[in-house]
Amino acid sequence: MTLTNPREPSLEDLMQRAQEAAHHSYSPYSGFRVGAALRLATGEIVTGTNVENVSYGLTICAERAALVRAIAQFGPTVRVAAVAVANLNAAASPPCGACRQVLAEFIAPDAPVLFPAAGGLRSMPFSDLLPLAFDMKLKE
Ligand code: THU
Repeated sequence: MTLTNPREPSLEDLMQRAQEAAHHSYSPYSGFRVGAALRLATGEIVTGTNVENVSYGLTICAERAALVRAIAQFGPTVRVAAVAVANLNAAASPPCGACRQVLAEFIAPDAPVLFPAAGGLRSMPFSDLLPLAFDMKLKE
């Protein structure tokens, strides 16, 4: 798959940044080293990696680590325009369900999400990954 699509000129760079971030992974329990890179609507790139915990359940995924970092750095109006996920284990790693739901509040539905899949790298629009995200529309 070529990543030099004129409509997405920076996806290749984004994947490179995700791979670099994976080298910082703290994953002594699973050994699964994940990196994520977000391209924001402003063009900024923010990366994250997974941070595990001995309690297991408190582990933070690379995608959410990147998102939390983006908001801490640029504020609550952050919009995500593209996502790349990488791992150093030569395994498939689409974003987990929890990360999809958390990303949903900040990402454009048509934002490309690039990740290692069974047959190689795969890119999908975010709305294909999570078509029915939970949302809370209370009646007045
Ligand atoms: N992990 C991520 O970083 N992102 C995902 O979307 C799925 C899983 C991490 C969490 C844990 O540290 C390791 O991968 C194994 O599940």
